[in-house]
Amino acid sequence: MQIRTRSGGHDFEGLSYVSKVPFAIIDLIKLSEVTVDAQQKTAWVEAGATLGTLYYRIAEKSPTLGFPAGACPTVGVGGHISGGGYGSLLRKYGLAGDNVIDARIVDVNGKILDRESMGEDLFWAIRGGGGASFGVIVAWKVQLVDVPKRVTVFTVQKTLEQNATQLIHRWQYIAHRFDPDLFILVRVARVNSNQVGRNMTMNASFSSLFLGGIDRLLPLMQESFPELGLVREDCMEISWIQSILYFQGFPLESPELLLNRTQPFVGYFKGKSDYVQKPIPKYGLKGIWRLFYEPEAKNADIVLIPYGGRMDEISESAIPFPHRAGNLFKILYASSWTEEEAQNSNRIISWLKRLYNFTTPYVSKFPRAAYVNYRDLDIGVNNNKGKIIYARASVWGIKYFKNNFDRLVRVKTTVDPENFFRNEQSIPPKCTKKHD
Ligand SMILES: Cc1cc2nc3c(=O)[nH]c(=O)nc-3n(C[C@H](O)[C@H](O)[C@H](O)COP(=O)(O)OP(=O)(O)OC[C@H]3O[C@@H](n4cnc5c(N)ncnc54)[C@H](O)[C@@H]3O)c2cc1C
Ligand SMILES: *[C@@H]1O[C@H](CO)[C@@H](O)[C@H](O)[C@H]1NC(C)=O
Ligand SMILES: *[C@@H]1O[C@H](CO)[C@@H](O)[C@H](O)[C@H]1NC(C)=O
Ligand SMILES: *[C@@H]1O[C@H](CO)[C@@H](O)[C@H](O)[C@H]1NC(C)=O
Ligand SMILES: *[C@@H]1O[C@H](CO)[C@@H](O)[C@H](O)[C@H]1NC(C)=O
Ligand SMILES: *[C@@H]1O[C@H](CO)[C@@H](O)[C@H](O)[C@H]1NC(C)=O
Repeated sequence: MQIRTRSGGHDFEGLSYVSKVPFAIIDLIKLSEVTVDAQQKTAWVEAGATLGTLYYRIAEKSPTLGFPAGACPTVGVGGHISGGGYGSLLRKYGLAGDNVIDARIVDVNGKILDRESMGEDLFWAIRGGGGASFGVIVAWKVQLVDVPKRVTVFTVQKTLEQNATQLIHRWQYIAHRFDPDLFILVRVARVNSNQVGRNMTMNASFSSLFLGGIDRLLPLMQESFPELGLVREDCMEISWIQSILYFQGFPLESPELLLNRTQPFVGYFKGKSDYVQKPIPKYGLKGIWRLFYEPEAKNADIVLIPYGGRMDEISESAIPFPHRAGNLFKILYASSWTEEEAQNSNRIISWLKRLYNFTTPYVSKFPRAAYVNYRDLDIGVNNNKGKIIYARASVWGIKYFKNNFDRLVRVKTTVDPENFFRNEQSIPPKCTKKHD
């Protein structure tokens, strides 16, 4: 039987609990303790803890400490940090994986290792290379980061009639160059419209976290992105933990909701990712909107996540996550559907693939890069039943890890030469002996 390790269970392809081969789940849900040391600005976080629990425990100890990881509170730190992990602090502090200072892992021999006993190669591999190939991560020690007492959030929506295309086009040139305190992502989806002659339009939602007060943000926006027309009334000054609640649409006075690990949306979902290194021309954006007017795109959206700032300063090989300087932003393509719509799932997924095909000329090439935490089995899979072949694995491996893939293979070859920890997209050892 193969092993499937699960922490938060948020893998896009369900690799922590779904397979066509017989498997056993190692579920870390009960290992979810978080111990914060506010003086040292560190925390030990067990792998089964959720991001929401981590944020809640940090805020309990200090209003001016935070951690740069994802927005969704039900995501588990076991998978998230081992695949990189980003959120609205990424332009200021990088990824979750960039801020790990120690870890505990159970290796293939059943030994519990820490940073010192696992060595720097394995410690490097698990901070972005995906944990599942190397062992079972039990806990992370993370470096907490400073956040101001008050941060500012805003969400500004623009339809095509309100110049959404021009604003997104402009955003591509500037969002990665903003002050690192300023993070503005864009979510785009189709909405109904009451415009004459057209019943649909696109809605671009510019959503922002600023690490400072409104009085500093407004002149900064006036200087960096006046076209958005941000005014004081759009902005809200709150604490950092409240900003987590704000982006989830939770009431700001209920931080305990972050401890609830039940994901409210329990439908079906498919996601894909891309990196963009040159701004997409306006006609490219308009082509994307045209695809969104098709019936299968009812519940689809794309999210554009700006890079730059700290992301440009960290080298491509510092951790296995390689998508650094040169990337303007990342795209998440996503669509979801309910149980009742399940008979249309093939059409919805093939629509998403058509969109992905359409954007080919506008995104990174050689490789067409992808984010391992947005797991996508379309980009390639191992032959999970038979011999795992390096050449086949390198097709998806180079997209996720670029030149770091080979070092991941070397680490795997050292720590798990017989490929005990394997799955549809696990890192292969260079030459396997028994279990191939
Ligand atoms: C609603 C939603 C929102 C998201 N938001 C963000 C976001 O804002 N930013 C971002 O970067 N990503 C985001 N993601 C992606 C998320 O980071 C990944 O899906 C991540 O891998 C989930 O970790 P998990 O522990 O919840 O998942 P799991 O499904 O438990 O695990 C994911 C992978 O890691 C392996 N793994 C899990 N735990 C361990 C462990 N302890 N030791 C070894 N291997 C392990 C699993 O076997 C599996 O291969 C989001 C995903 C969802 C579904
Ligand atoms: C859209 O942009 C044009 C110029 O680029 C401007 O003249 C017009 O007022 C804008 N419309 C809206 C609704 O902001
Ligand atoms: C828009 O109109 C078309 C044709 O009249 C219809 O098929 C479609 O469902 C409508 N879309 C929305 C979002 O109402
Ligand atoms: C645009 O999207 C936002 C959030 O994604 C939503 O709150 C808003 O209602 C949408 N606007 C329109 C016109 O539908
Ligand atoms: C946790 O969240 C789920 C999904 O939103 C909800 O059904 C449940 O009532 C919540 N539990 C508590 C204790 O708030
Ligand atoms: C992808 O696009 C190319 C060129 O635009 C086209 O030839 C090809 O058939 C498309 N593939 C799919 C699966 O849509």
